[in-house]
Amino acid sequence: LKREAIDTLQSVADAEALEAARVKYAGQKKGALKDVQKLMGSVASEDRKTAGMGFNEAKNAIADALQAATDRFSQGGASGADPTFDPSLPGVRPRIGHVHPITQTITHLTEIMGRMGFEAAEGPEVEDPHHNFVALNIPEDHPARDPLDNFYLATAQAAEKSNTEGSRLLRSQTSTVQIRVMENKQPPIRVISLGRVYRPDDPDATHFPMFHQMEGLLVDKHVTMANLKTVLRVFATNYLGDDVQIRFRPSFFPFTEPSVEVDFLWDGQWIEFGGAGMVDPNVFKAVGYDPDQVSGFAFGLGVERLCMRRHGIKDIRDLYSGDMRFLSQF
Ligand code: PHE
Repeated sequence: LKREAIDTLQSVADAEALEAARVKYAGQKKGALKDVQKLMGSVASEDRKTAGMGFNEAKNAIADALQAATDRFSQGGASGADPTFDPSLPGVRPRIGHVHPITQTITHLTEIMGRMGFEAAEGPEVEDPHHNFVALNIPEDHPARDPLDNFYLATAQAAEKSNTEGSRLLRSQTSTVQIRVMENKQPPIRVISLGRVYRPDDPDATHFPMFHQMEGLLVDKHVTMANLKTVLRVFATNYLGDDVQIRFRPSFFPFTEPSVEVDFLWDGQWIEFGGAGMVDPNVFKAVGYDPDQVSGFAFGLGVERLCMRRHGIKDIRDLYSGDMRFLSQF
């Protein structure tokens, strides 16, 4: 028994086999050694001394072999002793990832807007023309629906039908989420939606075919343009700094009336961060609200632009290069 046990322990190939051998020979309940020990009682008394010594010797030898085999695995990995392993060398610290600067920005913006009572809402990135255009008061012949300015998906449905209703596209703006929220909820509403949008722009320092927007929507009774400006000013001073000023320039969006471009003055420079306005009555009608009963404002700001301003990033492409030398700075 001793020979067999020691041979087995010397040749076990992995930790599992070692454990099996341990249970087989030295197990506390059913191990072979225990069986032998139980037989000791039936040994004639004059032989007991020799038998006891023999037993103890076998037991110790097996314990030594077991220890040796255990040491082998704990040092050299599953393949046995590794002569190149030097336990005195310093370890290699595992590389730990961290949150992408745009994700950090999204968390930060969500937190600032949350303090003003805006809840985060989400919508799909693959949209139908109804949510991306129709309900937002963008008619069929509007240039914003041009296939050259949108990523339409080559779905079987789109190929079959000549009308655009069956088609799908990557959303070109987060205003789609306004519609989805209002379709499912009655006013008062106070939401933001942060997410990816897609436009077929050639990448350069300020353009990328995928970017992020922060959409805001507030619907209630007696909402005014002054409320809009206050919310955006409080937001800008929180995110960019106390000295930031805000300016509205007249503009046009099909889903707001009146519409404005939103500029922030920062470091002596006016920079456009997005668009905003009072929700157009046609949008309220599209979601079944009564425009005589409620009013509201909406805005859409560029998340990359905010992040780049705050951190002094000069080229949007750096954010999506995957270059660790750039990303690890944040
Ligand atoms: N969706 C507009 C854009 O992408 C921005 C916007 C949002 C304007 C909400 C007005 C109201 O440019």
